[in-house]
Amino acid sequence: MSNKNIIVSGIQPSGELHIGNYLGAIKNLISLQNESKGSLFLFVADYHSLSGEPVSADTKRAQVEQLIVDLVSLGINPEKTILFIQSHVPEVTELAWILNTLTPMGELERMTQFKDKSTRQNENINVGLFDYPVLQAADILIYGANNVPVGKDQLQHLELTRTLARKFNSHYGNIFKEPQALLSATPRIMSLTDPLHKMSKSHGPSSYIGVFDEPSTIEEKIKSAVSADNSLFEKITLLSPELVEGITITPSKSGSQNPEIETLIAGVKNLLTLYREFAPEYFKKLIAPELVEGQTIINPESLRYGEIKKNLGEAINSHFAPTREKRKEIKNDKQKLLDQITKNGITARTIAQKTIQEIKTKIGLS
Ligand code: AQP
Repeated sequence: MSNKNIIVSGIQPSGELHIGNYLGAIKNLISLQNESKGSLFLFVADYHSLSGEPVSADTKRAQVEQLIVDLVSLGINPEKTILFIQSHVPEVTELAWILNTLTPMGELERMTQFKDKSTRQNENINVGLFDYPVLQAADILIYGANNVPVGKDQLQHLELTRTLARKFNSHYGNIFKEPQALLSATPRIMSLTDPLHKMSKSHGPSSYIGVFDEPSTIEEKIKSAVSADNSLFEKITLLSPELVEGITITPSKSGSQNPEIETLIAGVKNLLTLYREFAPEYFKKLIAPELVEGQTIINPESLRYGEIKKNLGEAINSHFAPTREKRKEIKNDKQKLLDQITKNGITARTIAQKTIQEIKTKIGLS
């Protein structure tokens, strides 16, 4: 396997992109691409998406194309990043089968995503849903990734990938690297309506902000996001100015007695996280000038949620305005882009075929 820095990530074509996908993974990928931090592989995970509810062939094709157009509109450059379609490299399913034989059932049974999705699509708990993390491991290992930009929800799957790489290496001989997760500063964006859970399409349209939602829809959704009465909080501390995850909110005496306090804290943290990300200039104005024991403090009394939500909606809309324009341009002439994606698939497949040959030789299948 190559010693280069290889970065691999995937996104399912299962509907529109939301700002959780953007802040958790895509934004990071775009920076890595623009800073030329290594060889980047980004695949549209069409095999994975089959584990959701079945859709018609026309819908699936449209979802795949739409995701490609959306990723490029956001800034993925398919001439710099090997953006391709997962099923153009069928060798990943061959590797997934081999890895299946090294995967204990118990490891997959305890996966949070499997448990969550089994509850949500309880009429369709298919083997693909169960085996999802093994296919994901195959996708990562087949290109020799050392770094995987993902949101926090994928850490458990990545740990399994590392375990499988170690297991394979110790049974059959050294071939795989153990990849590391690359988390962004915002690795877990929460639902607007149920902030104890991650932002996700399956919690309904009002719970997430679609990157391509209409500006008025975005403003409406933010307006209805969970926030709280100022008297419920005593102190808001930013443990590290860079890490948005480091926001802690201490409830006041009346807050501690509120049965909804955990949800309210999570909702306000999420709003502040988005505010810091999309409207940093406004966010800075919330910070109290005095430093208390090296910590940065926001005075809860100073929070005016109506104003914050209005500024945030406008900031998100202006952030994605160029993306919307670019999307219109690409949609009018997408053939060139789709040809490039096919070419990228051939590049990815050539690497995967070489890896599979080495693997089969190690196992004794050749
Ligand atoms: N809420 C999130 N915060 C941060 N990162 C997130 N990601 C997803 N949700 C969040 C990251 O986005 C990348 C693509 O994920 P995916 O293709 O698995 O998308 P998803 O998780 O299927 O998106 P949804 O909306 O949550 O879909 P449903 O509702 O169908 O399950 C990954 O890197 C992921 O970590």
